[in-house]
Amino acid sequence: MTIDLLAASDAPLRTPWADPDSYWGAMTDAVAGVPAPAAALHLDALRYNALDMLVRAAGVPIRVASKSVRVREVLDAVLRLPGYCGILAFTLPEALWLAEIHGDIVLGYPTVDRAALRVLASDERAASRITLMVDDLAQLDALDAVAPPTGRPEIRVAIDADASWRAPGLGHVGVRRSPVHEAAEVAALARAIARRPGVRVVGLMMYEAQIAGQGDATGAGDPVIRWMQRRSAQELRDRRAAIVDAVRAIAPLEFVNGGGTGSLELTAADQSVTELTAGSGLLAGHLFDGYQAFDPAPAAAFALDVVRRPAPDIVTVLGGGWIASGPPVASRQPQPVWPHGLRTLAREGAGEVQTPLQGRAAAGLALGDRVWFRHAKSGELAERVDAYHLVGAGAPAGTAPTYRGEGKAFL
Ligand SMILES: Cc1ncc(COP(=O)(O)O)c(C=O)c1O
Repeated sequence: MTIDLLAASDAPLRTPWADPDSYWGAMTDAVAGVPAPAAALHLDALRYNALDMLVRAAGVPIRVASKSVRVREVLDAVLRLPGYCGILAFTLPEALWLAEIHGDIVLGYPTVDRAALRVLASDERAASRITLMVDDLAQLDALDAVAPPTGRPEIRVAIDADASWRAPGLGHVGVRRSPVHEAAEVAALARAIARRPGVRVVGLMMYEAQIAGQGDATGAGDPVIRWMQRRSAQELRDRRAAIVDAVRAIAPLEFVNGGGTGSLELTAADQSVTELTAGSGLLAGHLFDGYQAFDPAPAAAFALDVVRRPAPDIVTVLGGGWIASGPPVASRQPQPVWPHGLRTLAREGAGEVQTPLQGRAAAGLALGDRVWFRHAKSGELAERVDAYHLVGAGAPAGTAPTYRGEGKAFL
């Protein structure tokens, strides 16, 4: 089926998750008869999340982070909404695959994949549709080694500049990605790329992970997080403006990309930025519940079977240990969400093949019943299942294959 998020655009916006009984009941109906583990995606929730992100972006176009979705039909449906533009892909083989259909793909991360670089350099159409990400000339050496500049189409590149905060007294705050941080460093890289044949600088990306990917409504540390994010944002606004000025003096930029789901309103307000990236807020892994500025609907979830009862207040489901990437802390576990009132055990957690769940709801569950979980991260669930079972207007609405279901495993 083709997901059409515009079809219902004149209907009142439904928020069925506000009534958990019927919401999770509809999700359960969508996977009735489907062996567990079974994943479902509620289209009203997806539509709400997609539209809410547009409101938060305040007119600045959003590029969709495909890693946070990994379902082509969902990417296509979101990209049909006015306000979304292009894809931020995560590997070059993925970008080449998506470029068969999509015309504006920025590879969000550097690549040294020789085979994929060779394909890109031998395909005029793909080369016109895909922009590589570069933060080191050695990445372009890898390209030149497989496809000399004279015999290939011009390759589009964007520069990834470090958006982390070098905080006085705290040191590095943010992720470890690009080595170029100051305007002079970024300009030197841009100049060196501009001197090379066979490549053209068309974009700049600066992703402020310490703001966009760090929840500020998660618990006792929130005031410190908010202070850090305020200070980092101030520092970034000036530095990003200086970097953009310096690079624009060397190469006309088609885009300056920034932000993520957690920073849409903040990054949109930065005059240097021409487009945003976001993905996680669409399917809404539960880590994205921990932000003050927005409250995503629980669009994607997966159901597991209750298979045994070790104690009156504990049931055990088969599976569950789909732990999200990142630091190995408790919040990276899937979250049991329905029925309400179940939690994993501290000593066991979500297990490789079994997950005991304790709580008042356990007494009401029988063997064969289902428990719904949300994954911590939005895209990783798609690596575990072949399809999402869709729910539209409260009723089952077909399925959408994941990348895995299409036989694709990119990372
Ligand atoms: C380069 C880049 N931009 C933006 C994002 C934000 O993506 P999301 O909205 O899915 O959190 C990420 C996430 O890691 C990223 O790596």
